[in-house]
Amino acid sequence: MTAQILDGKQLAQQIRSELAEEIVEFIQNNGVVPCLAAVLVGDDPASEVYVRNKRRACEAVGIDSQLHRLDASVPSEELLKLVAKLNKDQAVHGILVQLPLPRQIDSSRVLIAINPAKDVDAFHPENVGRLVQGRPRFLPCTPQSVQQLLVRSGIEIAGRHVVILGRSDIVGRPLSIMLSQRGPGGDATVTLCHSRTPDLAAVTRTADILVVAIGRPKFVSADMVKPGAVVVDVGINRTDDGVVGDVDFDAVREVAGAITPVPGGIGPLTIAMLLKNTLSAAESLEK
Ligand code: GUN
Repeated sequence: MTAQILDGKQLAQQIRSELAEEIVEFIQNNGVVPCLAAVLVGDDPASEVYVRNKRRACEAVGIDSQLHRLDASVPSEELLKLVAKLNKDQAVHGILVQLPLPRQIDSSRVLIAINPAKDVDAFHPENVGRLVQGRPRFLPCTPQSVQQLLVRSGIEIAGRHVVILGRSDIVGRPLSIMLSQRGPGGDATVTLCHSRTPDLAAVTRTADILVVAIGRPKFVSADMVKPGAVVVDVGINRTDDGVVGDVDFDAVREVAGAITPVPGGIGPLTIAMLLKNTLSAAESLEK
């Protein structure tokens, strides 16, 4: 069997055109253009690319974007001052501080300083707490992408066994909460695996849906996947062979029922979710 390819790029395009229509309507109704402020500290090349792509995507759907650049050696206080200014600025609806931050900066101090109503990454503890309690303001972008891809591809989640590899704050942990919650897009039985999980392959082989977010190139091999399972690869690893996921795509596609490619799977969707959250922030703030 060769797996169905879950085309995230095409789905992202569809979601972006839906958003573009909603944004036109928002601007007509409010006389205000939604605006995302991105903060980039230092000159990490991967972060440069991510921020550039996020800003281009904003422009393409009619969202204004600002870029605030700070030197890699900036003291925490200066970054916090910028965040405070953006919190107060009524023209700014969404604030995104690109991670990772340089070592001298305490990331959690920065993330907690962002106005939760403008926290389109959903990293602020208030937004994490709301998510855990099942009354989210924003859904974090990458987990939301995985959930939307499954839902919009018609893949049943309720009652299935979802195994997630990786317990990060950005992907694995929030996704485990979202998919196990009651209601649409949820009701799964979720197992969250990590570096201390013994006999990982024995666990992953029980997955109806396997989501991989560990940042290790081609880590998941065909023998770790149950025949017919849905495999979602969140990894983006830059290697000598180009960009590859956390899943050995060529081998696993022969076993899986459906699989996301890298690139062209979850990646393009995450930016679409950021745009969705920015519009949603603007709608709440302009009400
Ligand atoms: N760095 C890697 N992923 C992300 C993300 O989703 N948001 C931000 N702000 N930084 C990141």
